[in-house]
Amino acid sequence: MVTLRTKELRRIHLTLDGKPVLARSGQTILDVARENDVYIPTLCYSDKLRPLGTCRMCLVEIEGTAMPVTSCTTPVSEGMVVHTDTANLDNLRRENLKLILTRHPYNCPSCDINGACELQDLVYRYDISHQDMHAYQIKPADFGETPWATPLITYHPRRCILCGRCVSACTEIAEVGVLAYKGRGSDTIIASTEPNEFGRECISCGECLASCPVDALVEANGQPKGKAWETKKVKTICTYCGTGCELILNVSGNKVTHVSPSRGGVNQGALCAKGRFGYDFINHKDRLRSPMIRRDGYWEEVNWDVALDYVADKFAAIKQREGADALAGLSSARCTNEENYLFQKLFRGVLGTNNVDHCARL
Ligand code: SF4
Ligand code: SF4
Ligand code: SF4
Ligand code: FES
Repeated sequence: MVTLRTKELRRIHLTLDGKPVLARSGQTILDVARENDVYIPTLCYSDKLRPLGTCRMCLVEIEGTAMPVTSCTTPVSEGMVVHTDTANLDNLRRENLKLILTRHPYNCPSCDINGACELQDLVYRYDISHQDMHAYQIKPADFGETPWATPLITYHPRRCILCGRCVSACTEIAEVGVLAYKGRGSDTIIASTEPNEFGRECISCGECLASCPVDALVEANGQPKGKAWETKKVKTICTYCGTGCELILNVSGNKVTHVSPSRGGVNQGALCAKGRFGYDFINHKDRLRSPMIRRDGYWEEVNWDVALDYVADKFAAIKQREGADALAGLSSARCTNEENYLFQKLFRGVLGTNNVDHCARL
């Protein structure tokens, strides 16, 4: 939860949909609503980012205030009386959603995130079965240039609802700040400003992609993601480096189709390019799935018992012939601490040498 102010922690009394509730100063109306299980629709809001106030889906009414306000950007104040669920708000949110849909295609069945899209959820919730506003078809030619892309990320302006979450994610999470709005009115798109004024360039972390509530930022080399409701989510730890970031593997038809951030772990949802995009080896056809021994110039597939016996015999023979210090072990950052501990124990305690090192030191 990103609060607007964090210094003071005064108690605030307000009334939310007729019920008295307690809040802390610095919280927004949306924060307090969520803490009290009161539903307010949101689209540009992400609890990993500072409130943006761009989508206007989270409008609420405050008694004594002429116009509805965005609950994600409005701090609570003493004695506030807030209504989150009125016929007027329902109508405003529905019309607002239609406005957002004027620049988003109505083709959910063929979309890769069908079933996992924040916009689709709201369209379903507000029962928008047809678009009665003129839909503006955005063409790349309208901007006179190819839309922004990186070797790992493709941007689809026709799907972009201009919420701004990617721009904030690049600044606040990646701390790079190379994305910005470009153009005006219905011609607006997201574009890169790299190198930015501080000389920074995109680091391909994918935080922008992960923050997009629709499918406007996608993996450039991504496979079809599979239906959300048929996808198994497996929480695991990235093995590329010793940071040990927590991530979620999305598995569809026994294949890993993409990586999603996990909200826990040391990384709190953030990932680098390797953890987010480097998963194609898992299902790669060339991946070794069983041990192999080369005999007479040919690789032979064997089971683990045969392979381990083979290695043990070779180690024993070398030790007998040359002494223990003729052996050395190089361990991997892909292993857990416990595995690395056992590895050095094997070399020191069993084989009798201190020649042990780790790839992270190279
Ligand atoms: S990949 Fe990372 S650095 Fe590059 S634009 Fe997206 S958030 Fe910014
Ligand atoms: S690309 Fe996605 S996150 Fe960025 S403004 Fe468009 S819809 Fe929002
Ligand atoms: S996501 Fe990146 S930083 Fe995190 S463990 Fe993997 S390689 Fe290391
Ligand atoms: S969620 Fe508040 S304006 Fe978008």
